[in-house]
Amino acid sequence: MKRLAPGLVRLTNELNGCRRCDLWRAATQAVPGEGAPRASMMLVGEQPGDQEDLAGEPFVGPAGRVLDDALALAGIPRSAVFVTNAVKHFKHEMRGKRRLHKRPDAGEIEACRFWLESEIDLVAPKVIVALGATAAGAVLGRPVPVMASRGRVLKRGDAKVAVTIHPSYVLRQREPQFRAEWSGRLSEDLRKASRLAEPC
Ligand code: URA
Repeated sequence: MKRLAPGLVRLTNELNGCRRCDLWRAATQAVPGEGAPRASMMLVGEQPGDQEDLAGEPFVGPAGRVLDDALALAGIPRSAVFVTNAVKHFKHEMRGKRRLHKRPDAGEIEACRFWLESEIDLVAPKVIVALGATAAGAVLGRPVPVMASRGRVLKRGDAKVAVTIHPSYVLRQREPQFRAEWSGRLSEDLRKASRLAEPC
């Protein structure tokens, strides 16, 4: 169920009319961020997937289940964080009846930055966790190498920024052992990031 503060409600209403790029045309709806309105930690993904597009909520499909498991293992209630995406409409191509995820391009990410910036301003998180390269680039405004940035504390204005893998990276691992390892690393990265939000 969605929990939104008044500023975020207004943003969601405006977001639904967004025509800043063409992605709205093939999407069911825009998917705004969701979670604790003044969360100290914000998680940013790439863009909604097929199930998120239908539900209107971020990270509720397979990648969302990986994220939920990693959060649970880290002892972080999902209800305590704010979860959003760099791009708010589902970009895809049709393959038969299936809608296959397509990476947003630089223009679409740039067009959508307005909404991400607005969410960051409204939630004012102490820590932003960028899940994957698209999120890291959108949050920091420059290309960011994910693997080399894991474990580092970056800055964006007053907020600290941690970069980690996207949950779908875990899903792409074919070997169960590698899946388990990357799921554990994602969880550990989230746990370390949540520590950054604690008072010194
Ligand atoms: N992948 C994302 O980056 N975000 C979602 O909301 C779902 C899948």
